[in-house]
Amino acid sequence: MRIFVTGATGFIGSSVIKELINAGHHVVGLIRSDAGAEALTHAGAEVFRGDVNDLDRLRTAAVTADGVIHTAFNHDFSNLKQHSEEDRKVIETLGEALLSSNRPLVVASGTGLVARLKPDEPVLEIDEHVSSTEFPRAATEEATDSLAIRGGNVVVVRLSQVHDTCHQGRIAVHIKLALEKGYVAYVGEGNNRLSAVHISDAVRLFRLALEKGRPGAHYHAVGEEGIAMRYIAEVIGTGLKLPVKSLSPEDVPAYFGFLSNLAAIDLAASSAWTRQQLGWNPTGPDFLTDLRNTDYSTIYKAARKEDARCQTPASGIQKSRQG
Ligand SMILES: NC(=O)c1ccc[n+]([C@@H]2O[C@H](COP(=O)([O-])OP(=O)(O)OC[C@H]3O[C@@H](n4cnc5c(N)ncnc54)[C@H](OP(=O)(O)O)[C@@H]3O)[C@@H](O)[C@H]2O)c1
Repeated sequence: MRIFVTGATGFIGSSVIKELINAGHHVVGLIRSDAGAEALTHAGAEVFRGDVNDLDRLRTAAVTADGVIHTAFNHDFSNLKQHSEEDRKVIETLGEALLSSNRPLVVASGTGLVARLKPDEPVLEIDEHVSSTEFPRAATEEATDSLAIRGGNVVVVRLSQVHDTCHQGRIAVHIKLALEKGYVAYVGEGNNRLSAVHISDAVRLFRLALEKGRPGAHYHAVGEEGIAMRYIAEVIGTGLKLPVKSLSPEDVPAYFGFLSNLAAIDLAASSAWTRQQLGWNPTGPDFLTDLRNTDYSTIYKAARKEDARCQTPASGIQKSRQG
């Protein structure tokens, strides 16, 4: 199949492309930089130059594809509402380009968008997302809902914390805060959990969702249902050689800042239905193992704004990301 992939230079998108090529697909990647074009060509994919918000250009790529995987997103959280609304338009454009046929559109979302109506229970694939008035990022799933209602073959992959030994997602912010404050913190007893998935498993799920996903389905890329934040803090403390402390709720804002709301909530998620439906079986390393095997000297260098390169067996050499 000829598959158009947005976010081709990103953590998820670049790995999805390798997975698709290895499975025999022809991949066309959306790229906006020379370095990205070079890496994509090296990976064996076709380059399609453009910005994801150039909707005419996006339509041109989508109409000639047998399927689309959308992973591009601008993670500048100071402008989350604007970027989320841009994402809504991108999904509408891609979906409309595919609507007259049964060609699939697979969209990256997050388990963090699901409304947590039963505290301390893992969220399920059938659970509804919050609204975009509550949390702007929900515009993504509002757009996929609309397409599904109109008969589009749209499939959502809700990602939990995706990891390898270079990428820790939201936990990279915890690491950065620990370096700034001189200690690693969790809230209360630290029993609230984070769900996680290794990158190799996440990208296999994207491929399965593309090849045999059910239109309108939400699949959960969750390898581990929930890891207690206290355990995560302890591994970071060992890695950074810093003390680990419990915070009382009133001390949370001063330490966690914009992350305060997330720091104490339980973010467990289930993938039982996804596994059963798609025959998906996560086999990659668990999150704490990757966190233990993280090169903390690279993190120190990146914090000092020195050139810091992080090496993973799967992804080769990448710049260390602190966020
Ligand atoms: N990683 C996780 O743990 C996680 C968890 C939950 C959900 N997600 C979601 O999964 C998706 C992929 O995440 P990721 O970790 O791969 O993100 P990432 O590493 O930050 O990659 C983002 C990608 O989007 C591209 N992009 C941003 N703005 C663009 C624009 N205007 N035009 C063209 N391309 C643009 C970037 O291209 P440039 O290189 O040109 O900037 C990059 O390829 C996102 O929707 C994210 O929110 C990720």
